[in-house]
Formats: sequence, structure tokens, C-alpha cells
Amino acid sequence: MRNHIVLASLFLAVCVSSCKKDEKTEPEKTSETKPADTKSGTETDKQPATPVEPATPEPKPETTTTAEATIAAASDSKVEGSVTFTMKGDSVSVHAKLSGLEPGDHGFHVHEKGDCSAPDAKSAGGHFNPHTVDHGGPEGDVHHAGDLGNITANEEGVAELTVDLPTSFLSLAPDADNNIVGRAVVVHGGVDDLKSQPSGAAGPRIGCGVIEIQKPE
Ligand code: CU
Ligand code: ZN
Repeated sequence: MRNHIVLASLFLAVCVSSCKKDEKTEPEKTSETKPADTKSGTETDKQPATPVEPATPEPKPETTTTAEATIAAASDSKVEGSVTFTMKGDSVSVHAKLSGLEPGDHGFHVHEKGDCSAPDAKSAGGHFNPHTVDHGGPEGDVHHAGDLGNITANEEGVAELTVDLPTSFLSLAPDADNNIVGRAVVVHGGVDDLKSQPSGAAGPRIGCGVIEIQKPE
């Protein structure tokens, strides 16, 4: 019995001494790794400055979306032509070419409904006004999304207009509340005074065309 106790106490003594050594070495190891952690920490702090590099290959070719309205005569006029809308990035370029107009200014708008079936084009509804604001001119602070102002015909009755508008004005994006695709471009017999409510007192609708998206070629 005594022998067993002695052996057991010897084992304990060995174990305690070795365990103490382990305890001593372990904290040394962690104290060594701590400065290493802070070093790697500073390295990762510096790294965010370099990820700017992937930003240079990022610029992808901006997709271009095009829509067109073929303008046909309404209210017994002789108006014809086309209006194209080209969206690239956050800009929409509007290009219109019309003929058969009386010389001078003509109200020129996007109307709510893509329906030009009525002889007087009143089937196209009112001005496209998704934000429910007052009528105005395209350069004013307040205007409908459809308020493109006036288009001016020369002595030959030909009118051409090119204007770049931000996508906050009008858009061709399917998910945008001011998307004009499927609505109508209307040309008026009179001048849009850019202030009369609700539509600028621009007179009869003499041309109308539905805005249709063009498939990429
Ligand atoms: Cu109009
Ligand atoms: Zn308007």
C-alpha cells in the first residue's frame, strides 16, 4: 500500500512540475503571437487603400436603350415624322424630325396613354404626369415628365429638335415611374405657353405616335 502511495505521489509530482512548465511556456507563446496579430492588423488596415485598384477595370460599357415614336397625322393635318429617345447612363437624348407643320412653335409632349386611335388623338389622354405636379416648360423647376416644351418648324414646315434630358426627367427603364415607353408623343397645332394649366393651351393635337422600344441590333 505504501508503495502505491509513493508511486502515485511521484506521478503527481512529475505531472505538476511538467504541467507548470507547460503553463509557463503557453503564456509566452500567446504573448509572442499578440504582437504578430497587431502587425497583421496594421497590414490589413493599409490594405483598404489598395482595393481602389479593382475599381479601374470596373467601368463596364454602358448599355444603350432606344425607343422610337413614328408620328402620324391627326386632326386632318399633314404632320409626319419620328421621335427617337436614346438612353445611356443617366441621360436620355431626344431627337425629333417632323414635317408638314405650319411654320412656328408647336406644343410637344409625351402624353399618358399610348393610344393615337382617335382622329383628334385625344385617346392619348393628358400629359404624362407621374409625379402629379403642375404643367410647365422643360427648363422650369416644375413640369410634367411629358413636358418637352415646343418644337419649331421652319418656313418649309420642317422641325428638328435635339435635347438631352436627365433620367430624372424621363426614362426608358422598365422599373422607372417616369418610363415613357408605351406612351405617346403628341404634337400640337398651337404654341405651348409653358404655364397654362393643365397643358399649356397648345391647341389641337395634329400629330401622334406611340413610343416603342427598339430591339438592339
Ligand atoms: Cu400635348
Ligand atoms: Zn404638361
